[in-house]
Formats: sequence, C-alpha cells, structure tokens
Amino acid sequence: MDIRIFDSPDQTAAAVAQRVADALACEPSLVLGLPTGRTSIGVYEQLRELHARGRVDFARAVAFNLDEFAGIPPAHPGSFRSFMDRHLFAHVNLPPTHIHFLNGVAEDLDAECERYETAIEAAGGVDLQLLGIGSNGHIGFNEPGDELTARTHRVRLAESTRRDNAALFDGDPARVPREALSMGMGTILKAGGLILMAIGARKAHCVERALRGPISTHLPASFLQLHRRVELYLDRDAAGRLT
Ligand code: GLP
Repeated sequence: MDIRIFDSPDQTAAAVAQRVADALACEPSLVLGLPTGRTSIGVYEQLRELHARGRVDFARAVAFNLDEFAGIPPAHPGSFRSFMDRHLFAHVNLPPTHIHFLNGVAEDLDAECERYETAIEAAGGVDLQLLGIGSNGHIGFNEPGDELTARTHRVRLAESTRRDNAALFDGDPARVPREALSMGMGTILKAGGLILMAIGARKAHCVERALRGPISTHLPASFLQLHRRVELYLDRDAAGRLT
C-alpha cells in the first residue's frame, strides 16, 4: 500500500483532488467511483476550484457513487444523490448522463442492485474508486458483521452509522433510513485502483487495524489489503497510530 500523510485535512483533500485531476488528464474517459461523507467534502471543494480554474475536465468522465439510502427519493435533501449535486455535480462539467446512482426508491431494490452491477460492467468497470472509512470500519455501506456481500446489495445500517449520518437529516439519527443500497466489497475490490481517505483522530484506530490487522468481516476496510493498488491519503491525526 502506498501511504501518504499530510499535515492538515486541507492538504489531504487537495492532494486527493489533484490525484483525480491528474488521472483525468491521463485518461479523460476515466470511470470514477465516488464516496460521500464529511471526508469527501474537502476533496469535492478542491475539485470545484480546480474546475473553475480550468485544471480539471469531467466532460468525458463517468461516475458511479458507492451507495445510497433506501426509502428516500433522490431529490430528498438527505440523499447521497443530493449531497453529490450540492458538493460536486452542480458545479462541474460532468454530463448528467454520465452520472450513475443507486435509486433508493426503486420498486424492486434487489433488481436495482443487479441493474447497478450490470451498468458498472457495461462501463468497463470502475477505474479509480475513492473511498472514505466509517468510524466502525465500514467501506461504502458494507457494515461490520459475520459476513460481507460481494455484489451490490441492500444493507441494514448499524446504529453508529445512522448516528454518524444524522447531520444529513437535521441532526436526528431517528430520521436516518434504517436501510441502504451499497456496492459490495467484491464490486469495490474489482476497481482498477483504490484511494482511501481518512481525516481525524477518530479514524486512527480503524486505519491502523485496516492496514496492520487481520483481514476480518468485522472490519470491512481490512479487505483493502487484498487489492494490489491501494493509495492511502491520511492527515497526521488519522495516521496517528501508524508507526
Ligand atoms: C458514509 C458513507 C461512507 C463514508 C462514511 C465516512 O457512511 N456511506 O462511504 O466512507 O460515511 O463518513 P465521514 O467521512 O463523514 O466520516
């Protein structure tokens, strides 16, 4: 694993944004896998700025988001689709037809997950997958437990994950949907390259276990050890337990 440690969250975000801009300059039709979460906000802010200065072009890029809440429509302000519109899509030249999202209100959620897998395959697979890490070690919405699912699937969210996402629902964890749809761990590991970002001391323990600990379904991020091209972008606090 290629580990890069930065002095501040801003520098970490700027480096990830530049990495994406460079990848797009090399391959304009790059298929990107995109995350949500507070960690990604700085990266999207930097990408918006790079775009405004003509330093990144999304005209031929394709995007697949990692996950979405079940039971709320894309236009709901708490949806990940709305999050992406607010923080990135509304501000850059990524064509709307190149934006792929799981639909949390599809009539048949299992069929929706299969549709997504097929769409990813039809696009030739994800080239570069950006990832955050949940405070419980989840990746996308692949929650810790006795088993992990390989393909895109429906998940029941951990209570800690509902609390972590409460900000999207007026700070009320009870309003966070109980279920979500997420790319599976196999879907994620099939990407050409993975970039894991983590910021803050809150993530240090999980980052250490993900990198150095045994591979375990109880820490989904540890499965990244199985991928041959993982880059970690950490600020000093998130890297605090790495020696
Ligand atoms: C959500 C997303 C994850 C993301 C996580 C981290 O749970 N489903 O993909 O990694 O948030 O969130 P934050 O960056 O806010 O800590």
